[in-house]
Amino acid sequence: MSSLHSNVHTFRFVSLVTLVVLTCVVAFGVTKRFPTAPLPSRKVFSAVLPPTMNQCAECHPDVCETFATAPHRLTLTRASSPEVREHFAGKEFSFAEGGPTVRYESRDDALWLESAALPGPLRVGWIFGSGQHAQTPVSVLTNPDGRSESLQHRVSWYPTDELAATPGLEVASLETQGLYEVFQHEDHVVTMDCFECHVTHLPNHNGRIDESQIILGVGCDRCHPGGRVHMASVEDGPLSIERWSELSPLESVNRCGECHRRADQLTEAELDPQRPVLARFASVGLVMSACFKQQAVVNGEPSFDSRLDCLTCHDPHRPASRDPQFYREKCLGCHGSDDGQAAECTSRPMSSNCLPCHMPKQQSTENLGFTDHWIRVPR
Ligand code: HEC
Ligand code: HEC
Ligand code: HEC
Ligand code: HEC
Ligand code: HEC
Ligand code: HEC
Ligand code: HEC
Repeated sequence: MSSLHSNVHTFRFVSLVTLVVLTCVVAFGVTKRFPTAPLPSRKVFSAVLPPTMNQCAECHPDVCETFATAPHRLTLTRASSPEVREHFAGKEFSFAEGGPTVRYESRDDALWLESAALPGPLRVGWIFGSGQHAQTPVSVLTNPDGRSESLQHRVSWYPTDELAATPGLEVASLETQGLYEVFQHEDHVVTMDCFECHVTHLPNHNGRIDESQIILGVGCDRCHPGGRVHMASVEDGPLSIERWSELSPLESVNRCGECHRRADQLTEAELDPQRPVLARFASVGLVMSACFKQQAVVNGEPSFDSRLDCLTCHDPHRPASRDPQFYREKCLGCHGSDDGQAAECTSRPMSSNCLPCHMPKQQSTENLGFTDHWIRVPR
């Protein structure tokens, strides 16, 4: 997972490391880097603070109440938060084959990592992930240029309430020595990328993240920009806010794809449905599906029922439904025996659960699975 994120855009060797653990300063000598294509810029750096959720709650109390516990909202937390500390505190994990043991401790209202691989305890700054699927600790450092870099922990917490290897970081690599037995070093670019997809506002001074001012989680403004103008327009109208229902299906999916990835960021060779990594990128798979591409043929024109984008199956203000029946009903919105509907299944009755065959869960590791959103006939 998290390393997958970085592996997608970066490959590098780190040669020289000095760590002064408690002051959190690291000097890195980067010897080699391949060029990487930048992701489209995300508007989280502006000096202007976006409106707060409380301001929206004045007129949209229900949405805000629902959203308060949404995975989007909770996808980044300070490791000092008691709920998160509870997941890690007092837990231990040993890497296989004589690797080191790591232990997390809650002390002085903070979370600490202890391991024989480190010269002393390291204070954990951040926890990525809401806990819906996994939570990965990250410690932010300042490099000698004064810019933020980070150490991604090789251990994550899972909803089984256990620690296990961070997906993608379990295998010993070239750099797995000393510190790197417990961390993966993320350079400045990757570090900024991690935060950009998991926050609403990321103030930084010449590349150094102002950690005290981050607005945590994917909040209202990431999907509904222009909140201030909207609030000011409510009295005098016309109502100034973009309506997602007015976007085309592709535009809508690509907005979500800003973080969930877009098919047009990948090459044709990378768009191979057999590549397991694609299951991680829902918005890539979905737009490759015949269901998506041919949605206009159902009932002639895309109507409300026959429209396919992420919102057909998900409300981004809440966790995804875990009920297969809920999703089957979405399929039956288009597939059936009525005039103009898309084909019925040629293999199983339409009363069956469609997901295991047409949208199977792919285990990325023992602890983490992703749903293949490239809806197709199974091979
Ligand atoms: C003073 C009241 C008020 C405040 C504050 C307010 N809104 Fe609204 N908002 C409205 C009204 C009224 C509508 C129109 C509702 C309708 O068309 O059903 C609306 C509509 C919307 C819509 C469009 C819904 C659609 O039909 O697609 C979105 C999105 C939205 N608001 C987001 C926000 C966000 C985000 C904030 C906080 C930054 C916010 N609003 C703050 C009053 C407000
Ligand atoms: C700013 C980045 C960003 C954008 C934009 C975004 N997402 Fe997400 N999304 C995330 C992150 C990060 C998570 C992981 C949440 C967690 O930690 O569990 C996530 C998780 C999800 C989940 C999983 C929820 C669960 O219960 O496990 C769904 C479904 C989802 N997003 C749908 C959407 C849809 C639909 C849109 C567009 C309307 C969208 N996302 C836009 C970043 C984003
Ligand atoms: C392009 C946007 C993007 C970047 C960059 C990114 N993430 Fe995520 N992250 C997501 C989305 C979307 C999800 C939810 C779906 C998924 O898991 O892929 C997510 C989920 C997660 C989760 C929850 C567990 C899981 O897999 O669902 C963790 C932990 C996480 N990311 C950590 C990181 C770290 C650490 C980095 C930097 C090395 C990073 N992310 C970079 C978009 C991003
Ligand atoms: C990850 C993206 C995302 C985030 C974050 C998000 N929204 Fe939305 N919101 C949407 C989308 C997409 C729709 C359209 C849903 C549809 O048409 O089915 C929507 C619809 C709405 C609507 C109109 C529909 C309704 O249910 O009343 C309001 C109001 C709204 N959002 C307010 C907010 C507020 C306030 C926040 C922050 C507390 C927020 N949203 C956070 C994506 C998001
Ligand atoms: C046809 C229905 C459908 C559509 C459309 C759909 N999803 Fe999903 N999605 C699912 C199902 C089914 C699950 C698995 C739910 C469960 O865990 O039981 C899921 C789960 C997810 C998850 C959680 C991690 C995972 O892979 O299990 C994310 C993130 C996600 N979807 C993102 C998206 C995004 C982004 C879009 C738009 C590109 C989208 N989905 C469109 C059906 C859909
Ligand atoms: C918005 C309408 C829509 C929705 C929702 C939808 N589909 Fe489709 N689907 C289509 C259309 C249109 C086609 C292509 C024409 C046809 O097969 O009749 C298609 C094709 C397919 C195919 C054949 C794919 C191929 O490559 O030959 C399968 C399998 C399929 N859908 C399964 C599903 C399942 C399972 C769901 C629910 C998880 C679903 N669809 C949801 C419209 C939809
Ligand atoms: C046990 C696995 C399984 C289940 C469950 C299942 N399917 Fe299928 N489906 C298949 C297979 C295999 C094929 C290809 C059969 C063939 O080659 O004729 C298929 C074909 C299809 C097609 C393509 C039909 C065509 O004309 O080419 C559609 C559409 C479809 N399924 C939809 C669904 C929907 C909707 C559901 C849930 C109501 C569902 N399937 C349940 C295995 C399954």
